[in-house]
Parts: sequence; C-alpha cells; structure tokens
Amino acid sequence: MTAIGIHDLELSTTHHVLGLTALAEFQGIDPNKYHIGLGQDEISMPAPDEDVVTMGASAALPIIARHGTEGIRTLLFATETGLDQSKAAGVWVHELLDLPSSVRVAEFKQACYAGTAALQAALGIVARNPAERVLIISSDVARYELGSPGEPTQGAGAVAMLVSAEPALVEIEPTSGVYTDDVDDFWRPNDSTTAVVDGRLSVRAYLDAVAGAWDDLAGRGGPDAESLSRMVYHQPFTKMAMKAHQHLTRHTGVDLGEGGLKTGSIYNRRLGNTYTASLYASLASLLDHEDDLAGSRIGMFSYGSGLVSELFTGIVQPGYNGSGRRERTEAMIEARVPLDVDTYRELHSKTLSSLQDVETPRVTKAPFRFAGIKDRARFYQRTGN
Ligand code: HMG
Repeated sequence: MTAIGIHDLELSTTHHVLGLTALAEFQGIDPNKYHIGLGQDEISMPAPDEDVVTMGASAALPIIARHGTEGIRTLLFATETGLDQSKAAGVWVHELLDLPSSVRVAEFKQACYAGTAALQAALGIVARNPAERVLIISSDVARYELGSPGEPTQGAGAVAMLVSAEPALVEIEPTSGVYTDDVDDFWRPNDSTTAVVDGRLSVRAYLDAVAGAWDDLAGRGGPDAESLSRMVYHQPFTKMAMKAHQHLTRHTGVDLGEGGLKTGSIYNRRLGNTYTASLYASLASLLDHEDDLAGSRIGMFSYGSGLVSELFTGIVQPGYNGSGRRERTEAMIEARVPLDVDTYRELHSKTLSSLQDVETPRVTKAPFRFAGIKDRARFYQRTGN
C-alpha cells in the first residue's frame, strides 16, 4: 500500500501580539492563572489588514515556493472564521498564490475539527490518484467577548500542509477513531463575531470525546496505546492537552508518559487558540523541538466543539526536521508587534460591515494584505514583502 501523509507544513500568524501578563494586570488578577492555570503566554492578534485569507496564503506561499504546483488539483480551506456565507476563503488564496485554474477549491467547517476533515478528504484524493497532491490551509482567528472567561484563550494563526504519497514528514496510518455528539458547548451564530461558549461543559465534552474516539480507534483494530511514542492534541489552551493526556492515560490504563506535551505546545502557548490550525501547530512544535522521532508513532487528537472529534496516528519519516521551520517560526513569532491593552481592546471592538466601502490601513508586513471592501466584496493585495 502506498504511504500517504503530510509532505510539508508551514505556519503563519498575525502582525500583533498581546501579552497575557498585561491582560491579567488590566483585569486585576494573578497572571499565573493564565501562565500556569491555562498554560498560555500570549495572544496573536490580527492587524486591520489581516484575516484568515492573508494568514492562510502566507503559510502556503513557502510551500508552493519549495514544491511548485505540479500535481496540486485541490485546495481545501478549513476555518470557523468564515468570511462569506457562499464563497470559500480558499478562492482568494488561489488568486493570491496564482494557482492554476485546474485547481478545485472548497471550504470545510466543523469548528476546530475542520482541518482534520480536510486532511481525511485529502488522504482519500491521493489514495485514488497517488500522482495528485492536495494543499490544505487551516486558518482561524479565535475571538471571545471582552471580559469573558474565554478572552485569555484567544489567538490567531494558520497552518498550510501539502498532502502527498511518499510524504517527507508524517505518514498517516489508515485506521482512525471518530466520536461525534450533538453538544452545545461552543458555537458562533451567524449574527455574532464572537463565540457563545459554556466553558465548563466544553472541557467535559472534550474529555468525553478523547475517550470516545479512543474506543472507536481500539474497536477498529488501531494501534495499541503502548506503541504511542508521543501525543499531540487540539489545544484551545495548552493545559487542556495536559488534562486530555491524563484522561487518556486513565481511560486506556496505559502509562503514556509525558508524551511530548511540552515540546508539542511551545508554539501554541504563544499563538493562543488557532482553532482549525491548533492541532497542526502542535504537531509542528513537536517535530521542530525533538530530534529523534524518525520511525516513531504519534497519536493525534482533533476536537471541534459541537462536537466532532477524531483520534488518528502517524509515523514520523526519516529526515523530518531538516527544513529550518523552527528558525522561521521563531523569527515570525518574535517579530510580532506588541499591543498595549487599550489598543487591543479598541482593535477587538472594531467590526466591518459589507454595506460600507472601506480601505484598510497598511499595517501588516506579511506577503498579502486584506485591502478592504468595495461594492460589498472583499479585496486583497500582494504587499511585495
Ligand atoms: P475560568 O473559569 O476563567 O478558569 O475559565 P478556572 O477558574 O477554571 O481556572 C482555570 C485554571 O487556572 C484552573 O486549573 C485553576 O485552578 C487555575 P484547573 O483546575 O483547570 O487545572 N488557576 C490558577 N493557577 C495558578 N495560579 C493562579 C490560578 N488561578 C486559577 N493564581 C475556561 C477556564 C477554559 C472555561 C475558559 O478559559 C473558557 O471558557 N475558554 C473557552 C472555551 C475553551 O477553550 N474550551 C476548551 C474545550 S472546547 C475546545 O477545545 C474547542 C474550541 O477550541 C472551539 C472549537 O472547537 O471550535 C474552544
């Protein structure tokens, strides 16, 4: 059977960052609640000329530069920060990246799980024709109401992945465990720019889903828990991964050890929740901070509120960490421009209506920018950076 999986992966994030110490001080609470209690340090925050399209295109650009477009006939864009009820955000990316017209584009939605739905679809496409490659972009801006418990878990970022036969990074194994249940733990109504969330219920639902997805994986003859060298999780906040790992250890009755939780959360602590991109940002963090994973089996848990979840596994390929992604990602994270709390709150409360033409201020240093709205349609530009 042909090996299929993730051939390349790249991250991008926003122009701005808010430190959680500053937010806690503004709120008059102990910053350790965020740094230790939630395991988060910073929130990536978009400038007015950034959104899921600009982040997604910026993540995909180096992948196209490294591998070209040959064999790419599909671009799948996963997001829960939808910009239009009809048009897939990936169509703007298709234009910005100058992809051939022979590339189909569609958008996937199911909260933070959508990136994994796109990955499963991509694996199927490549299984049918191993000469094809699929570009997946998971891109999101996590926003909660100011002053709400979710506020410190906001964030923003994108991960682009190239899925192919004979992958260079991680071969995805064919058996996976799925767990779906209709739960109102977190959702965003069409007329709201922020999520509605029952935080406590969402944590319980996430833990139930880890156990449920594991049971499905085990029932379908998936790998033994003992064979999992590392685990990466969807990380709304990094402490959630720790809770999930402890829960899975209890549920399987197998000591899963530390499982790479620390190395797998270095980027997530600083980006905040990136929704559909979060699990894959964690995978990048793990691969970029451990040198001896070749041949190891990694378990991956994807969770999307509402809820759909999936636990699947992959085998890390030899030479997986030679791309310099760690240096690029660290430089990008360090380059973010800090916001003071007043400016952050002002940016947070700004929303655009499609009823008014607008040109956004030039702020981002990314290769692409959201330039504004004209005649109710969004338009984008290359920046030349
Ligand atoms: P909260 O009520 O503010 O926090 O909200 P808390 O009081 O439960 O405290 C959090 C932790 O900090 C606790 O630790 C405290 O003990 C600790 P825990 O008991 O959990 O181990 N703490 C401290 N630690 C050190 N020093 C201190 C201190 N004070 C307290 N001084 C909550 C927490 C997660 C509910 C909130 O942030 C929230 O609503 N977040 C948004 C929802 C969310 O992230 N849910 C996670 C699961 S759902 C999911 O992952 C899906 C999602 O990504 C969306 C999607 O799928 O699309 C969200």
